[in-house]
Amino acid sequence: MQRSVWYTIGFAAIVCLICSILVTSSAVSLEKKQEVNKLLDKQRNVLQAAGLAKAGESLSAAEVQSRFAAFEPVVVDLRTGKEDPSTSPDSVDQRRMTSDPDESRAVPKNSAQVSRVADKAVVYKLKDDQGNLKMLVLPVEGKGLWSTLYGYLAVGPHAEEIEGLTFYEHGETPGLGGEVDNPRWKALWPGRKIFDDTGKVAIHVIKGTAGPPEKDPYEVDGLSGATITSRGVTHLIQFWLGDQGFGPYLESYREKGGRAA
Ligand SMILES: Cc1cc2nc3c(=O)[nH]c(=O)nc-3n(C[C@H](O)[C@H](O)[C@H](O)COP(=O)(O)O)c2cc1C
Repeated sequence: MQRSVWYTIGFAAIVCLICSILVTSSAVSLEKKQEVNKLLDKQRNVLQAAGLAKAGESLSAAEVQSRFAAFEPVVVDLRTGKEDPSTSPDSVDQRRMTSDPDESRAVPKNSAQVSRVADKAVVYKLKDDQGNLKMLVLPVEGKGLWSTLYGYLAVGPHAEEIEGLTFYEHGETPGLGGEVDNPRWKALWPGRKIFDDTGKVAIHVIKGTAGPPEKDPYEVDGLSGATITSRGVTHLIQFWLGDQGFGPYLESYREKGGRAA
């Protein structure tokens, strides 16, 4: 049977309309789920940085939330280095704030290639049974070779040692810079010292292999074939533990140790 051109065009238009309604409605209905999954992934990474979850350990959403409940999220004002109890941690979106000139500040050129720092950030405190702080988990970010790496760095009492490091988002090459996700490489971080005797951030990734923390307290193995990503990790840690990042906040934590911050 011969159909008119208008019939064909009309039929195609209706099919397109139905498909676009289906795609749009599924995107909208999945948006909430994606947000929840993103949040769970971040929480899982905080747990891994703190050593409360193993890399690759399969945890249900309920398990992640129950372990994560051990942390106290606290807002830090990065302009003053002081805690800001008047701001709810839920209202702070550091990544969004970083790109808003009204909620962030430009920082001097630096090796981590961080151009702006949000006015506020959320850090996670972990306390022992006596209420003493035993760990702080800090958000960190900085450029690798292809991408900005976003992750968490956990530091122990007095901010003397690193407890762990994880990245929850980056676009480095799998097998090269992407080895920042390798559990064996991440296992090299706990126990390394952060500050040297002069108070300077001394921890860094080397080119080659470092010894155990007792022998090489300030050095971590480089990622082979990925010197640029390795350098990026050094730079981002040094930036966020330094004066433009959490340095001023950590100062009081270092002095007061595990008792208060
Ligand atoms: C396809 C491709 C992907 C690469 N991905 C990375 C990467 O993710 N991170 C990185 O530091 N270097 C990467 N490199 C290598 C860099 O270009 C550079 O050669 C390397 O960082 C130098 O490290 P090396 O001195 O350890 O060899 C990649 C190279 C190629 C060809």
